[in-house]
Amino acid sequence: MANRWTNTLSWNDVTPEAAFLNRRQLIAGAAALGAAGSIAGSVSAQDSGDALEPNTWEEITGYNNYYEFGTGKEDPARNAGQLTTQPWSIKIDGMVDNPGDYALEDLIAGLTVEERIYRFRCVEAWSMVIPWNGIELKDILDVAGVQSDAKYVAFETLVRPSEMPGVASRVLDWPYREGLRLDEATHPLTIMATGIYGRDIPNQNGAPIRLVVPWKYGFKSIKSIVRITLTDEEPQTSWNMANAREYGFFSNVNPNVDHPRWSQATERRIGGGLFAARQDTLMFNGYEDEVAAMYDGMDLAEFI
Ligand code: MTE
Repeated sequence: MANRWTNTLSWNDVTPEAAFLNRRQLIAGAAALGAAGSIAGSVSAQDSGDALEPNTWEEITGYNNYYEFGTGKEDPARNAGQLTTQPWSIKIDGMVDNPGDYALEDLIAGLTVEERIYRFRCVEAWSMVIPWNGIELKDILDVAGVQSDAKYVAFETLVRPSEMPGVASRVLDWPYREGLRLDEATHPLTIMATGIYGRDIPNQNGAPIRLVVPWKYGFKSIKSIVRITLTDEEPQTSWNMANAREYGFFSNVNPNVDHPRWSQATERRIGGGLFAARQDTLMFNGYEDEVAAMYDGMDLAEFI
């Protein structure tokens, strides 16, 4: 597999006028970003043929799941503004050569921020297309120096009750936890997002840095990360702990394996309007060519 992944959805594929406007704003926004790292152009025209238009800023930042701020779709936008995201540090520990508490700006200084237009598919069967700005997780793990016996990566979200009204509820066991196998974590599609549309990622979307794993259901893409642990055991994950029958460790998008309470065959694209037809969900959310080999020989109905 090529080292660097090239965008399969490109700005060339989106609705012409809106796209050009967005693209300009994106570049302007990127130039104005004081953030560490540079935005590398990653747009290429080798598209798979599905002309996808990214969701609007308002849709992406107004309809969210972030239970630390409440369980309603509009709660995060309403409540997350008070979250302090500066200073921010990430503890990297476990099987790494350079464990420690890294200031976010030091951790990502010099790493390349790329634009990645990805499909995003929630297990609740809604979806969006989101133009992220992010750093390949592999580049961040390289800073920490992953040891050869590590097999998994575990992630944790901040828990700060004074700023997160949702953690007063026991709806999940806090902190929100997620995990990936090491090959998934170092796959070139896996990014840590710091921006959307070239602007800093808003709090409700997981500021200042969140995981994005586009071939998995959205709950794997954990927000506002404060800890990354390298381990040789499969880590516990929040939704799997809450209900193992409904939420597996892998949670790859799969139209052929239904959730116990709803079908995963189709999805509702946010912003499509009340009468828009549901669209077919794609195997691995459309990233089958890139990721299927990682699951060769696994029964995907068993390893949900
Ligand atoms: N991360 C944390 N810390 N808390 C959450 O409640 N929700 C997950 C995921 N990451 C969640 C989280 C779920 S269910 C989804 S679908 C996505 O975030 C939603 O991301 P978005 O709001 O940016 O669309």
